[in-house]
Amino acid sequence: MRPSLAKRTDVLAAEGAYAVLSKATILEKKGKDIIHLEIGQPDFPTPKHIANAGVEAIKKGYTKYNPPLGILPLRQAIAKDVSSKKDINISSDNIAVTPSGKTAIFTALLALIEPGDEVMYPNPGFPTYQTLIDFLGAKRVPIPLIEKNNFSFDMNVFRKKFSKKTRLIILNSPSNPTGGIMRKQDLMEIAHAVKNTQCWVITDEIYDQITYSDAYTSYYGLPGVKDRTILVSGFSKTYAMTGWRIGYISAPTRIMDKIDYLLTHMVGCTATFTQHAILAALNGPKDELRNMVKEFKHRRKFVVSSLNQMPGIVCPEPAGAFYVFPNVKSFNKKSSWIANYLLEKGGVALLSGSDFGKFGEGYLRISYATSMKNLQEGIERIRISLAKL
Ligand SMILES: Cc1ncc(COP(=O)(O)O)c(C=O)c1O
Repeated sequence: MRPSLAKRTDVLAAEGAYAVLSKATILEKKGKDIIHLEIGQPDFPTPKHIANAGVEAIKKGYTKYNPPLGILPLRQAIAKDVSSKKDINISSDNIAVTPSGKTAIFTALLALIEPGDEVMYPNPGFPTYQTLIDFLGAKRVPIPLIEKNNFSFDMNVFRKKFSKKTRLIILNSPSNPTGGIMRKQDLMEIAHAVKNTQCWVITDEIYDQITYSDAYTSYYGLPGVKDRTILVSGFSKTYAMTGWRIGYISAPTRIMDKIDYLLTHMVGCTATFTQHAILAALNGPKDELRNMVKEFKHRRKFVVSSLNQMPGIVCPEPAGAFYVFPNVKSFNKKSSWIANYLLEKGGVALLSGSDFGKFGEGYLRISYATSMKNLQEGIERIRISLAKL
């Protein structure tokens, strides 16, 4: 007899993107040529002035522990950045630096929910939400994102399911995987619904700097929501820093002690030199960010129009992030089957919408965070392969 694992680990499974990446890598090792449209990370390098600040920080000896909530100058710079982006007033006392957006989400969930609590979350949605809800023994209440509302919440389901038992609502706008943004009227209705209740909101706004429409509204920027809301975010996407691992939480000061203790025991602190790199990012020029978003906009136009020209595909134009979420229901096959077929027969790695929850069935997720050359080749391979179905 061998010792068994804790029961809670039963719910853990691979994330679609990593699973497809490893399958694609095996095929590549066997000599197959694969175009990668599955990966959710900017293909741009980290801007030089940011990378250099990180290197300089190491050379200067910023290689030791720092406070669990992060170094004060960075907490101040993040507070200033959040205040100006969201047009609100946040102080460094509200900010915790974390070693990734994912850790920010985990920490917030650990602080807020208990076994049996009902948690609403977007479906299709970032897989980490659902996994952590299960892991913490809470009750999933998926809220469908619907195509006809440009992938905002299905508010009829929200109204039906929202009750005294709802302990937490997770929002993510712009969204992974749809690229959609939540409608302002929906966000306002949610803010109104949670007033004077025991319900928290976590708003994941990690893609807030990658938007293509003035219609984007930040939930965190709505009046009167801050006292029951935790903003989780990070720098992976904005500054092309996925491998640096740094994010943050902005939360009411009354819960910051507990966030501090959770981070103390979970991670100790976020890497010190990485925080100095982010200081350079926040205080430095934003030209590279602007150019990256401009290039994403150009690619989005190409991908959306090419997909819409293919018989059987309907691809809404997303207002943010770097994903499209085409509807492939007319092929009458499971999305996972189509994704696998495109990988094995077509040589294109992309994700099945169902990797993001049951309401993602009938869709594919394509990341356009790759070169135009790759996109052109990838789209052509999709066109040829789907034409054979
Ligand atoms: C919606 C969303 N939130 C959070 C993250 C986590 O990002 P990171 O842990 O790299 O900061 C991601 C990454 O893909 C994401 O798509």
